[in-house]
Amino acid sequence: MGLVDLHCHLLWGLDDGVETSAEALAAARLLASLGFSDLAPSPHASPEMPSGDPEACDARRGELGALLAREGVSLALHRNAENKLDEAFLERAAGPGRRGIGASGRWALVELPFRQGVPALPDLVFRLQRLGVAPLFAHPERCAEFERPGRAEEVVRLGGALQLNLGSLVGLFGRSVGRLAQRLLDDGLYAVAATDLHHPDGADEWVPEALEALERRAGAAALARLLDEQPRRILAGEELP
Ligand SMILES: [Fe+2]
Repeated sequence: MGLVDLHCHLLWGLDDGVETSAEALAAARLLASLGFSDLAPSPHASPEMPSGDPEACDARRGELGALLAREGVSLALHRNAENKLDEAFLERAAGPGRRGIGASGRWALVELPFRQGVPALPDLVFRLQRLGVAPLFAHPERCAEFERPGRAEEVVRLGGALQLNLGSLVGLFGRSVGRLAQRLLDDGLYAVAATDLHHPDGADEWVPEALEALERRAGAAALARLLDEQPRRILAGEELP
């Protein structure tokens, strides 16, 4: 067993992530070399992109699995999608169209707008819980709503979980995003860390740097919790302690 990446865009040609199977293979090889054993590629569940079609994503994940097996890259792949948290998602979440994480689908990776506030956030989390969906918020440090004091704590208290983008720790998204990421990390508010990898270029530098930065700041036990123990609980559809 190794590290688990619950947020990456390695299903080529479906969203704004990798464009070719060769790029997907290069990214997967890199992650395997850094100690990852499980990936849950998370194509955008957006109607404007081919990745809006869950069947196309399932088919491409099958192709990626076959490619990795052929090339001797040992990585288990799991079902996942990155969902915009809006009314359409809430409607889908109520039925069989829910695109959750792993076989259980109890947890769903959701994202908020980067620059726009979402004042109704606590209500959205509450409504999701009633539908049996536990939200894992992608990169809150990049989203304006989480700049609001107390918002991250509140979402966690309501049963949501937060996912750190590793790149935020090494300046990939600028200084203010980096500062918020450090604050949320120091306060123990993240449940999961992930790469949100979109292409392999430069990743051989920033991903290992970010893993080091995480360990330096939070310690080895926190790294194991954020990239192994907790993501496995989410894949299994378990509650987080
Ligand atoms: Fe993403």
